[in-house]
Amino acid sequence: MRLSGLTALLFSSFVYAQTDYPELNTTFLVTTNPVTPLPQGFPWGSKTANNTNPCNVIRAYDFTVKREQKAPDGYLKNVLIINGQFPGPLIEANWGDTIQVTVHNQITGPEEGVALHWHGILQKTSQWMDGVPGVQQCPIPPGGSFTYSFIADLYGTSWYHSHYSAQYAGGLIGPMVIHGPQTIPYDIDKGPILLTDYFHRNYFSIVEDVVGTDVSKVGPLSDNNLIQGRNNFDCSTVAPGDTTKCTDNAGITNFRFSPGKVHRLRLINAGAEGMQKFSIDGHNLTVIANDFVPIIPYTTQVVTLGIGQRTDVLVTGLPGATGSYAMRSSIAGGFCSFSTQPDVIAIAYYNHAAVALGTPNTTAWPAWSASVTGQCANDPLTDTTPWYPITPDPNPPVTQNIDIEFGQNATLHWVWTMNNSSFRANYNQPILLLSNLGNNSYPDSPQWNVYNFGSNSSIRIHLTNPGFLSHPIHLHGHNMFVLNVGTGSWDGTIVNPSNPQRRDVQILPAGGYLVLQIEADNPGAWPLHCHIAWHVSGGLYVTVLERPDDIAKLQIPSIMAQTCRDWATFTDETVVDQIDSGL
Ligand code: C2O
Repeated sequence: MRLSGLTALLFSSFVYAQTDYPELNTTFLVTTNPVTPLPQGFPWGSKTANNTNPCNVIRAYDFTVKREQKAPDGYLKNVLIINGQFPGPLIEANWGDTIQVTVHNQITGPEEGVALHWHGILQKTSQWMDGVPGVQQCPIPPGGSFTYSFIADLYGTSWYHSHYSAQYAGGLIGPMVIHGPQTIPYDIDKGPILLTDYFHRNYFSIVEDVVGTDVSKVGPLSDNNLIQGRNNFDCSTVAPGDTTKCTDNAGITNFRFSPGKVHRLRLINAGAEGMQKFSIDGHNLTVIANDFVPIIPYTTQVVTLGIGQRTDVLVTGLPGATGSYAMRSSIAGGFCSFSTQPDVIAIAYYNHAAVALGTPNTTAWPAWSASVTGQCANDPLTDTTPWYPITPDPNPPVTQNIDIEFGQNATLHWVWTMNNSSFRANYNQPILLLSNLGNNSYPDSPQWNVYNFGSNSSIRIHLTNPGFLSHPIHLHGHNMFVLNVGTGSWDGTIVNPSNPQRRDVQILPAGGYLVLQIEADNPGAWPLHCHIAWHVSGGLYVTVLERPDDIAKLQIPSIMAQTCRDWATFTDETVVDQIDSGL
C-alpha cells in the first residue's frame, strides 16, 4: 500500500515505546496483556483533549473478590484480594476500547457487599457504571456477580478500587493503564507503580475508631508504606502476642533502568490516608501528566501525590550507569498524614549485580528531604498547564460555596460535614436510579448531601477548609478545572484562566480554599469527596446532581434494578452493619 505524504507523516509518529513491566510479575501483580499499545485499534489521528478512539475492542476481565490471610510486608493479616492478588490485577486497554469487568463477590468472614469504582473514568455513556453504592448502584450482594461495562474514555494512568465503606483500605485496589497518544516521546514504559500506605489492623475496626466518640482515636497511624505492594517490616515493633504473625525481610521491589533511555513511570497513590512524596536519588523526574491529563512537561526532584492522584513522569537513565539507586517514597509528616513507619525504598538498578548488594545507600535529593517534613500541597498551578488547552466559562451561571468542618454529631460521634451536613448513603436507594425515575427531592434524606444543579451549563464550586488537615478532593465524572487553590481565602483570581489545570483529584490545603469548575456535559449523580478513606467514611462527601432533566432520559439497563432487588433480598435477611457513611 502506498501512503500519501500526510498519512506517512501521521504513521511515522506512531513509533511505540517498548513496555517493560517485569516488576509487576515479581510482586503480587500479574499483567494480563503486556503489550503496548494493545493489538486492534490505534488511530489516534486528530488528537484533542476530548476525542475518543472510534475503534472499540472489548477488554474483558473476571474478578473474584475474597478475604484471605496475606503478608505483603511480612505481617500476616486479613486482606481483601482479587483473583488471589494484592494489589489487584492490572486492567489495560486502548483509548476508546470497552472495558468489561465481571465481579464475583466471594467475601466471607464476615460477608459484605461490594462495588468497584473505576477512578477517573468519565462514564459519559454509562453513568450508572461508576460503581458507588447508594449513589449509582446497589452493592453486589454476598455470593452475587455483576458485570461492569464502560468505555476507556480517557487515556493514561489510573486505578480502580472498592467504594464500599473503607474496603479499599483493606486491599481492594488495582492499577489501570489506558494506552493513548504520546505527547513527549519515551523509550520504555515501566508501567504502573502503586504507592500505598498500609495498615495492619483490619479496616472495619479502624473505621469504628475514626467515626467513634473518642477523639484520641480518630486519626489512626498507618503501620507501613509500600511500593508495588511490597516493603520490609521490623517485626521487633509488633505487640508481643503478634510476633508469630510477623516475618522480617519480606522484600522490596526492583526496577530495571537502562542507561541513556527515557523511562515512563506511572505513579499512583492508591493508599487510604497517606500523602506520598516520591523521588529517585540522582535522577530528575519530568512530569508529563497529572491524573488523566497530559501537561506541558516540567522537571522536579520530588512528586507529591495525595490519595487518588496519579503522576506520570519520564526518567532518563544515567549515561554509563551500572549501580543501583534508591527509589523512595515517604508518607509526608507534619499534619499531612499520620504514620509510624512512613518510608519505603525500591531499587532502581542498571545491572543485576547491583541488586545483590541490597538497599542502595545513595543520597536523597535535598528537595525531597525538605518536602517530606510537611508540605501538604500539590505543585503550584503555574507549573501544571494542560497540553491540550480548554478554556472554562469565565462567568458560570452558578457558584456553590461548601465549607468543610469536623465535629461531634447528636450521638457524640466524630464526623466530617460539608455545609454542616455529614453524608450517609442508603445502599438500598441509589440516588441516580431515583433521579432517573423522576425523584430529585429526597426530602427525608438531608444526609444524602445532594446539590441539584439543574440544567446549568457550567458549575463552579468554592470549597473552604478552615481546619488543620488537608484533603485530597476528588470529583467523579469529570476532569475538573482547578481555578485556584491555596491557604487563606480566595481572592477571586484564576490561575492560567485560558487553560487552567484539569485533573480529578486536587489537594485542598489546611486552612485554605479550592475553587473548581466543570462543564455540565455529563448528566449524572457525581460524588465530590475527600479521598482519605477515614474522612469519606466520616461523611466528607456531597453528590453533584447534574442535569436531572437529562438523567430522566437515560436508558439505564434493567440489571441495575435487578441488583437492587438482589441486594434487598440480602438485607431483608441480614442487617448490614453500616457504621460509617457507607463510602
Ligand atoms: Cu477513587 Cu470516589 O473515588
